[in-house]
Amino acid sequence: MRLPDSFLQELKDRNNILDVVSGYVNLKRSGRTMSGLCPFHGEKTPSFHVNAEQGYFHCFGCGAGGDVITFIRKIENLDYIDAVKFLAQRAGMELPEDGRDEAAAHIRGRIYEANREAARFFHRCLYSEEGKNALAYLRGRGLTERTIKHFGLGYSPNSRYALVRQLRSLGFRDEEIIRANLGFQGRYGSKGALDRFADRVMFPIIDLRGNVIGFGGRIMTDQKPKYLNTSDTMVFNKSQNLYALNFAKNAGEKRLILAEGYMDVIALHQAGFPTAVATLGTSLTTEQARLIARYAQEAVICYDSDGAGQKATARAIPMLREAGLLVRVLTVTGGKDPDEFIRSHGDQGPARFKQLLEASGNDVEYRLQKAANGLDLSQPDGKIAYLTACVSILATLDSKIEQEVYAGRIAAEVEIEKSSVMAQVEKQMRKRRRDQSVQEFREIQKATSGFGDAVNPQKSQNLRAANAEEALTAYVINNPDMANNIEKWIRPDDFVTDFNRRVYETVTGRIRENRPVSPTDLTQDFSEQEMSRIAGMLYKASVGGETLEAAKDYCKIIKQEKSSAKLREPLEDDEAKRLFEEIQKNKLGK
Ligand code: UTP
Ligand code: MN
Repeated sequence: MRLPDSFLQELKDRNNILDVVSGYVNLKRSGRTMSGLCPFHGEKTPSFHVNAEQGYFHCFGCGAGGDVITFIRKIENLDYIDAVKFLAQRAGMELPEDGRDEAAAHIRGRIYEANREAARFFHRCLYSEEGKNALAYLRGRGLTERTIKHFGLGYSPNSRYALVRQLRSLGFRDEEIIRANLGFQGRYGSKGALDRFADRVMFPIIDLRGNVIGFGGRIMTDQKPKYLNTSDTMVFNKSQNLYALNFAKNAGEKRLILAEGYMDVIALHQAGFPTAVATLGTSLTTEQARLIARYAQEAVICYDSDGAGQKATARAIPMLREAGLLVRVLTVTGGKDPDEFIRSHGDQGPARFKQLLEASGNDVEYRLQKAANGLDLSQPDGKIAYLTACVSILATLDSKIEQEVYAGRIAAEVEIEKSSVMAQVEKQMRKRRRDQSVQEFREIQKATSGFGDAVNPQKSQNLRAANAEEALTAYVINNPDMANNIEKWIRPDDFVTDFNRRVYETVTGRIRENRPVSPTDLTQDFSEQEMSRIAGMLYKASVGGETLEAAKDYCKIIKQEKSSAKLREPLEDDEAKRLFEEIQKNKLGK
């Protein structure tokens, strides 16, 4: 939908960025802007600024920035149009609908109604004479009357005219039936629509507002396709909805269970796990991962234990993680899906599943298990391959404690010292951080083009040091009379990045000579690009309310970073060989 500029302007006017951001961030006035701790990355000193006059926010730490719509997109995990809707609702505004949109809204309304009527019809048919087999089928699969009603299950009669006739009698036109994908256009000159679903058990798909938006239909024999699903329509998008999320979201739990199929979800709900959801006949999408993250903090992947299920699990883990979820993987034992697992344990099914759920390791556990697949851990090279794979996994963890725990276990498995494992993990992490900060730096550069680029090329690899150097330099510029003190704590040689050292030396040099150090006085010593970087430092300092105490801390940080920068030199490449020898020496690889 394209929105008129006037609407967007009004939206921004009526959603003051300060008010909106204050709902999420504790802002304090500092100079002309307001600042606080950035909600988009972890930090202890505020580098997140809101400029209410100009209507934007910016974080000097992570580079995030933009207008109020961007802020809501990021913090609420919404796409653009949903962020607009969110703010429109907040300000009590209606989304504009031009003539075309109004017509579309009308058609959508008709599709919802047709779907609702279809669901009613299918459900009635399930309890009629022609639905006898279907009802027996569902009961045979262990579903109770209550479950069948709860999910509104149904039966589509073995005919190509049943639903179409029913809907026509209710006043729906064939065009509407076809648009809802409840019927299709018959061929060979046949007039009108034909039923899309015939002789199938029907699973209505319901959106978060309670509308029936589509169906899955299962055949009761071995014929293919096993499930026929509604194709995407004006109201149904497979990649943006989840089966049973309408129930799961109200269960009031922080944890959602992600299963593979309709029957798994239904069996799980019946067994007392009302937070199970499933995708709609496709693999998980980014949108669905975000949707889950909107209602839960934790996702338990509970896919089939077959090869396809494992592949899908491996694919889903990073997607869910990136959506901000804690991910756990539940492995159903005995080559079954959750539905079969629960049923095969009879009365004990729910309790047994609960055990699995509680025991389900987080995804780290799962990935470590997978890393051992196909390797012979009794051989040194098997051990090294396993160790290498484990190290890459552990290096992605944020928690040192977690790393230590797993490192200990892996060390025992491959029979080397735990410290050797941790050393490898730390090496990997340094490499990752290097790669990452280069990446982040590039992004910040992009976001603030002409602001930071070629000026200080060492910054990306020494972010912490460079930030401290900049803050310290800004402090000195703002407080020339304190320069004496500072010079007792730090020498230019201690600086990690060359550009910042040059700025600092120039500034302190001028102060010693009693020359002014306002930004305009520095223009002769620095290029335009360099000046804008210096202006950035000053801006940051002016809103930060810096104290001498803080300046002292910056000196400490710079010195710390200087010594670890030395350590950052590449480690030797024959590490693997050394480990190999360690293993051999322990006479444990045979
Ligand atoms: P499964 O084949 O694992 O089926 O497909 P299931 O859920 O265990 O169903 P039952 O127990 O045999 O009845 C998992 C999911 O993949 C989609 C459906 O959403 C199904 O629930 N699927 C599968 C299709 O869309 N079409 C198919 O032909 C098969
Ligand atoms: Mn199944």
